[in-house]
Amino acid sequence: MHLPDYLEARTRDKRSYNRVSFQIDPSIEKKYVGKTYFIKTYGCQMNEHDSENISALLEALGFSKVEDYLEADLVLLNTCSIRENAHNKAFGMLGRLKHLKHEKKDLIIGLCGCMAQEKSVCDEILQDYKFVNFVLGTHNLYQLPEVLDKSIKENQQQIEVYSREGDLVEGVPVIRSNSYKAFVNIIYGCDKFCTYCIVPYTRGRERSRKKEDIIEEVKELVKDGYKEVTLLGQNVNAYGKDLYDDYNMGDLLEDIAKLDIPRIRFMTSHPWDFTDKMIEVIGKYPNIMPSVHLPVQSGSSRILKLMGRRYTRESYLELFHKIKEKVPGVTISTDIIVGFPGETEEDFQETMSLIKECQFDNAFTFVFSEREGTPACKLKDNTTQKEKEERLQRLNEVVNQIFLEKNQQLEGSILKVLVEGTSEKKDMFFGYSETNKLVNFTSRKEVLCGDIVDVEITSAKTWSLDGKRI
Ligand code: 5AD
Ligand code: SF4
Repeated sequence: MHLPDYLEARTRDKRSYNRVSFQIDPSIEKKYVGKTYFIKTYGCQMNEHDSENISALLEALGFSKVEDYLEADLVLLNTCSIRENAHNKAFGMLGRLKHLKHEKKDLIIGLCGCMAQEKSVCDEILQDYKFVNFVLGTHNLYQLPEVLDKSIKENQQQIEVYSREGDLVEGVPVIRSNSYKAFVNIIYGCDKFCTYCIVPYTRGRERSRKKEDIIEEVKELVKDGYKEVTLLGQNVNAYGKDLYDDYNMGDLLEDIAKLDIPRIRFMTSHPWDFTDKMIEVIGKYPNIMPSVHLPVQSGSSRILKLMGRRYTRESYLELFHKIKEKVPGVTISTDIIVGFPGETEEDFQETMSLIKECQFDNAFTFVFSEREGTPACKLKDNTTQKEKEERLQRLNEVVNQIFLEKNQQLEGSILKVLVEGTSEKKDMFFGYSETNKLVNFTSRKEVLCGDIVDVEITSAKTWSLDGKRI
């Protein structure tokens, strides 16, 4: 048993780590043919992509996937710690699984993802959730086959969570959930330590993959007919800093843009490391999509300082306008937290005025959620939860109005859409534009998933656009 430790998770030293190739233990390969699995994924794209690795690891053991957890022999929760509600949802699911296990004694239950890295979660599982067969941390996900097999063989709860990052493992198998769009990890972890955020503790320090490995993966995807790659990292802008002296995110973007892949996206970008080279490259290559996710979190420099964000309202706005100016037609989306400890009505009004100035194309808005072990927990807070919820509501009314107006400006224009599927009623197709707008459209001609088609926008909604293929 290995339990997590926040003190260790917080250390950032220059200790080197090995880069090793994944290999499955041949003695357990295909050992579970005939058994089924179900994965429930919470949280961000990083988790979604981890679940694609989990699927492949389980299928290497012989498991096959089912879409209903009631039919599964193994249920795995790939969890998220970012806010309390994600945490509560996973525990809610564990409650339902507890009942299920009463009826189905052989059911195997596993928990992995960010919550596994929280000491309090592991303690709670040890204490009150003895029916959970195994807990696996984010740094050793590739050990899933061995840990799962051991928990079954020994019929004993396994908790294998490390707070030190360990090896960087290449070649972990993957079963992608989409045949046109693929996620590609470029950097793991985060060293920013924004004071509200648990990610640097659950995902460890920044570790870049080697550029050759990333480029090789994208080349394979091109060969397999993929149309879009999303380069993933908690902060992709930090790419390369731990590995190279003079090769960074701008260089990587440029090298990938030279490959024959129609669409490149990347997320998430911290405003701090967004270099001029990145802006230049995004503006230069048509296959780098003109769509940037640039979380601002707050419009008040005082709150940004308390958040440890390393930029001010003014420097954010400067960067924002520079990107808008140098990348024609770019859309910018953001994340905003309201109700950070100490946020006053004036601070909140500064966020509202920044939103109005920036006219974001999309925004993910949250009420501050206290995460145990983060510095923001210790800050004084006089605002009630009710006031915070009200701020969120006021903010959402303004951002929704902006989204609608921005979408209305697109009526009559023609957008290139990568087709992903048909709507529920099957009478419309849907996909995303280069600027990352969700577009539903009709077509008289045949449309295939994975095609990139021209769509004329006929009407705008807050969250999507309607159109017809031309
Ligand atoms: N409370 C509320 N929102 C948070 N985020 C991160 N940590 C917290 C927290 N403790 C938000 C930030 C981040 C997004 C992924 O989640 O806005 O950009
Ligand atoms: Fe969290 Fe800040 Fe790192 Fe983003 S940059 S993952 S908000 S610590």
